[in-house]
Amino acid sequence: MEILHTAAALQAYTENCRRAGLRLALVPTMGALHEGHLQLVRAAAQACDVVIVSIFVNPTQFNNPDDFRLYPRLPEADANLLAPAGCTVLFLPSVEEMYPKPSVMKFDFGALEHVMEGTHRPGHFNGVATVVGKLFHLSRPHQAYFGQKDWQQVAIVRQMVADLAFDLELVSFPTVREADGLAMSSRNRRLPAEARTVAPRLYAALQLAAEQLRQGASAAAAQQAASAYILSEPAFTLEYFEIADAHTLQPLNSWQPGQPIVVCLAAHLGGVRLIDNLVLEP
Ligand code: PAJ
Repeated sequence: MEILHTAAALQAYTENCRRAGLRLALVPTMGALHEGHLQLVRAAAQACDVVIVSIFVNPTQFNNPDDFRLYPRLPEADANLLAPAGCTVLFLPSVEEMYPKPSVMKFDFGALEHVMEGTHRPGHFNGVATVVGKLFHLSRPHQAYFGQKDWQQVAIVRQMVADLAFDLELVSFPTVREADGLAMSSRNRRLPAEARTVAPRLYAALQLAAEQLRQGASAAAAQQAASAYILSEPAFTLEYFEIADAHTLQPLNSWQPGQPIVVCLAAHLGGVRLIDNLVLEP
């Protein structure tokens, strides 16, 4: 596995690969890798000849300075996990390398970003789109891999790929969970032990809402029941619990049969902000 630190080195490397007729996959990450990331890498290695994994804790997508400061950074451990998973190139740039000058261009994703993470983390998706767009340009992959754990992020990146005609296939993968249901996340490492024991309530609440919807409850009633279940454990603060159209992400008042829906939440627990979601196929 090669480790590259500069944009120029990545561009030169991927250009050579393309000239040799190889298929390239990109898996963008912020590191502190877990099984959720590694499944994306393994799937990419199955489908492509060259797998580029980027690890970059992107400052422009953090609206909370403490979250950025405390974000786990473990590049050596990450590198050891990546080679056996099939990563060919690890791209590990510095902030100065990715942002030689502050970027000023702004993205506007309209209704897609006026909900959930978009409203609760102002500027977040602008930072995500900026860095993901740069990574797409630097590596020009045939495929790019994203996790459905960040459902809204996938929708935003899909919109950017369509609007800016990036010549790549976006591949999205289901959420990988711990045995007790907690969605794997780099931030889970920061959960204090007592908080970790109650954390699976979040997934249980998503399942509760899904079950109520399947049984014909209104979106408002399902949301109410699931929120109450989370908040009955005082360690949680709930930022949002939304039931939305899975594609437009707009909140649902009523559920039309056949309409794909997603239930999404963000909660604070033990000083850590966690998100999760569950998709209900019709
Ligand atoms: P990060 O949180 O490191 O996640 C990198 C990729 O792994 C994302 O596509 C994310 O959805 C996926 N992922 C994380 N946890 C997962 C899980 N439990 N199951 C399946 N996939 C999971 O998302 C980001 O970084 C950044 O916003 C990034 C796209 C790299 C831009 O900076």
